[in-house]
Amino acid sequence: MSNLSTEEFYDDLADSYNDIIYRCAPRYEEMQQTMLEYIPSDLEPRQILDLGCGTGNLTLRVLEMFPETQVTALDLSEEILGVCRRQCGDDRITYLQQDFGQLDLPDSGFDLVVSSIAIHHIDDAAKQVLFRNVLASLRPNGIFTFVDQFRGETPAIYEKHMQVWKSFTDSKGVPSEEWQMWMEHQDQHDFHATVSEQMRWLSEAGFVDVDCIWKHVLWTLLTARKSGDE
Ligand SMILES: C[S@@+](CC[C@H](N)C(=O)[O-])C[C@H]1O[C@@H](n2cnc3c(N)ncnc32)[C@H](O)[C@@H]1O
Repeated sequence: MSNLSTEEFYDDLADSYNDIIYRCAPRYEEMQQTMLEYIPSDLEPRQILDLGCGTGNLTLRVLEMFPETQVTALDLSEEILGVCRRQCGDDRITYLQQDFGQLDLPDSGFDLVVSSIAIHHIDDAAKQVLFRNVLASLRPNGIFTFVDQFRGETPAIYEKHMQVWKSFTDSKGVPSEEWQMWMEHQDQHDFHATVSEQMRWLSEAGFVDVDCIWKHVLWTLLTARKSGDE
């Protein structure tokens, strides 16, 4: 799997992704459930965007929580979008193959933008552009909430995060080749930034009510709102 682009990596992983992610990402369901619990009850989203939907595990939860809503499921990988379509169906979903770096989205088109473990695939400058593009795609008072892998605030904490993550995968019986696959991918294509940096970038992009809702080791859930004054 070495030297693959992110798109090729997820194309190759598409069919086995659901088996792998539950044993490799600690508290995977909890982080997504917590995200949904904190969506303001008065938001009543009609249009939701899932950035980096993968096989659609978060997409499915969003569809279940908001039975009236339409979801746009966006991902770079054609193969993983195919698995997402098999898992989530065509009812109430639009599939978009787009790169976070070249988004083409309707202005103010979404009430809610969600994302799970995807934004760390783009570098820090691209994250800041993405945050501005997400803001533009939200209607006033719309919510952006995402869970992702974040760097520790110090090198020592970041190193500890990696050790704790490795211990978790060992406890789940993850084979060493699978851990190695993630680490090779991480070294080549992952860009972990700190919680404080990313909260600042959200505020600088123009979001308000920026907050960290949940955190476990690398995995952190942030929320932000587009002001109603726009
Ligand atoms: C770890 S998976 C997460 C999938 C799903 N959201 C979940 O929580 O299980 C990361 C996803 O982000 C997608 N991705 C990575 N880089 C991307 C980019 N630049 N633009 C769009 N999607 C991207 C990958 O193709 C992959 O499906």
